[in-house]
Amino acid sequence: MAKEWTPSSWRNKPVLQMPDYPDPAALAETERRLASYPPLVFAGEARKLTRSLAEVANGRSFLLQGGDCAESFAEHGADNIRDFFRAFLQMAIVLTFAGAQPVVKVGRIAGQFAKPRSSGSETKNGQTLPAYRGDIVNGIEFDAASRIPNPERQIMAYRQSAATLNLLRAFAQGGYANLDNVHQWMLGFVAGSPEAERYQALADKISETIAFMRAIGIESDSHPSLRETDFFTSHEALLLGYEEAMTRVDSTSGDWYATSGHMIWIGDRTRQLDHAHIEFCSGIKNPLGLKCGPTSEPDELLRLIDKLNPDNTPGRLTLITRFGHEKVEECLPKLIRAVEREGRKVVWSCDPMHGNTITLNHYKTRPFERILAEVQAFFDVHRAEGTHPGGIHVEMTGKDVTECTGGARPILAEDLSDRYHTHCDPRLNANQALELAFLVAELLKKDAGAANARMRATG
Ligand code: PEP
Ligand code: CO
Repeated sequence: MAKEWTPSSWRNKPVLQMPDYPDPAALAETERRLASYPPLVFAGEARKLTRSLAEVANGRSFLLQGGDCAESFAEHGADNIRDFFRAFLQMAIVLTFAGAQPVVKVGRIAGQFAKPRSSGSETKNGQTLPAYRGDIVNGIEFDAASRIPNPERQIMAYRQSAATLNLLRAFAQGGYANLDNVHQWMLGFVAGSPEAERYQALADKISETIAFMRAIGIESDSHPSLRETDFFTSHEALLLGYEEAMTRVDSTSGDWYATSGHMIWIGDRTRQLDHAHIEFCSGIKNPLGLKCGPTSEPDELLRLIDKLNPDNTPGRLTLITRFGHEKVEECLPKLIRAVEREGRKVVWSCDPMHGNTITLNHYKTRPFERILAEVQAFFDVHRAEGTHPGGIHVEMTGKDVTECTGGARPILAEDLSDRYHTHCDPRLNANQALELAFLVAELLKKDAGAANARMRATG
């Protein structure tokens, strides 16, 4: 019989990817301080997200999740947040229209700081130092002092998350996100794109629909859903001491919630059934993500689902698959079949980033064609299996960075050095992110067309 879960029961389990803090007393003191600080999100909001994700699990909505690979202290500013939000909302409007379904909007933001690493150390010019593990742990600069894990950084990450979330809430609810604005930004993108002709038809249909709604009196003054939007936050629950400190009992339900973000996920490197990350996540009520990589096997996945979602609550668990574009057909069908056979309700989402990283000119990059190929394969497999391709999970920024190659305004290997700013993995820039949304929209439209045909046939 498993011992009873508590926010600290993970401490009795084996754990991977945790930093070695040289001063445990200082770490404990920081965690005590964090535990006394206000929550960043409320339990009721997390429950609302679970309900929205249940609609995705049931095939009636689509999940868009995206943001930085790693947020950084250096890039913390209003412009970055605004530009991200603006690109993200444009993606959402395109996907909403094409799929004729609500899009559940979840940012990798306001808490996405801690990073798992493939090696615990890094060697440069003969010097070996501890690996950079995200700004919440240590500094990216390659010097011995920066790389020492410093608990004070957790307080800085908490405060940055609070400020980021504050601005996002203002944007989402204060009128900035209104449909007319988003529509105009999107038209601006299409007009400037080398692929304008390809995107124009969809953009025109959106314009016509908005004009029609206005003609029959549906205006943002009278319809809050046209001037406000629900936007949720998410991050990888990697740094468990921080997560534990931010975990609180909800007074309404008596349940435990991670108040560090609305949704948290478990990374591909830390999803061992009997280890600490699964233990921690199993006891909190927030919606959870679970990354599934090429080593995910059906039986093991079913045991993880049992542990993370024993009541089979739709919306509780999102499986975020990230195989690499050439491995989807080998890896995904067997997982889908096992989950379907056992009647488990999950959201299937495609992370086309983490299996498609290569090195070019000494830069980690991701070719846009491979990212698109993974999404395409994900849709093809779900269509063949009769399951809902529920969402995409991307690393992106609102800025014009040069980190992923390809796209309609192609970034070449030799361009990578121009504006390569990421603190961890290469992100889609704003244009590439929107282009991906238009291309996913084409896949969604095919699906929506097929669903309508089914309804007519059975209706
Ligand atoms: C990430 O999402 O940044 C990440 C590290 O992904 P994964 O766990 O899938 O490798
Ligand atoms: Co990443």
